Amino acid sequence: MRGATPDLPWVTIKYAQTLDGRIATRSGESQWISSADSLVYAHELRASHDAILVGVGTVLRDNPRLTVRLVEGANPLRVIADSTLRTPLEITLLEMASEVIFAATTAADPARRAALEARGAQVLVLPAQADGRVDLQALLGALAARGIRSVLVEGGAEVITALLRARLAHRLVVCVAPKVLGRGVEGVGDLGIVRLDEALTFRDARFWLCGADVLFEGDLEGALPPSFPAPRTAPSVLTNER
Ligand SMILES: NC(=O)c1ccc[n+]([C@@H]2O[C@H](COP(=O)([O-])OP(=O)(O)OC[C@H]3O[C@@H](n4cnc5c(N)ncnc54)[C@H](OP(=O)(O)O)[C@@H]3O)[C@@H](O)[C@H]2O)c1
Repeated sequence: MRGATPDLPWVTIKYAQTLDGRIATRSGESQWISSADSLVYAHELRASHDAILVGVGTVLRDNPRLTVRLVEGANPLRVIADSTLRTPLEITLLEMASEVIFAATTAADPARRAALEARGAQVLVLPAQADGRVDLQALLGALAARGIRSVLVEGGAEVITALLRARLAHRLVVCVAPKVLGRGVEGVGDLGIVRLDEALTFRDARFWLCGADVLFEGDLEGALPPSFPAPRTAPSVLTNER
């Protein structure tokens, strides 16, 4: 804790998109946009962060495990932003021994909370933003208070957009696959940007070829400062840096 200001973990946002900026088809299918090498890197990123965060939309659509499988390494703490605890009890996340936290607000039904806790999950009840959703800065502060120094955000679009809008993310990792989908789910939604000089910009922008994909990685300028250093995020499978 720095004075009265709660600590904030380092936040890396990572997603895979098509050349036309889609992270899923119009039906919500996203597995897998990227190449096998990029998937290995995604697991390296999981192993190098203390926690992994996704929104309930991704849980409902993809039923992910959010564990480290393609490389050696410990599983991160799994965190789901789910304001009203609408995650079904039958999801794969709850079948696994690895720790999982649901971040909710007081709008969540206490019976849902009890049911998730009975399945081994922890539930954090946090302040709500003006739109009724989980206050993401409060969530990050609560994670830091539990000793979490770095958080990997794997989607989906709404959580990515909210974190970028609030300037709570420090690094963006985008895997660009040589595919075009046309209409679909856009990776980043409305950031309230009107003028070009308001665009988010980066320090240390880096590009790599990774299998069939191009990987972009850069540190966001103007983000709320993290209390902890960046974890290692260079891919071991890179073919060359540009
Ligand atoms: N290509 C990729 O790398 C990738 C990665 C992940 C997901 N995806 C795709 O993305 C799609 C899902 O994206 P999505 O945007 O629908 O879902 P999402 O971002 O995973 O989840 C959105 C939900 O999170 C909850 N939430 C809680 N607090 C929030 C906050 N402060 N701000 C924003 N959301 C908050 C909201 O539900 P409540 O209001 O109920 O809390 C919201 O509807 C799927 O098609 C999935 O396959 C692609």
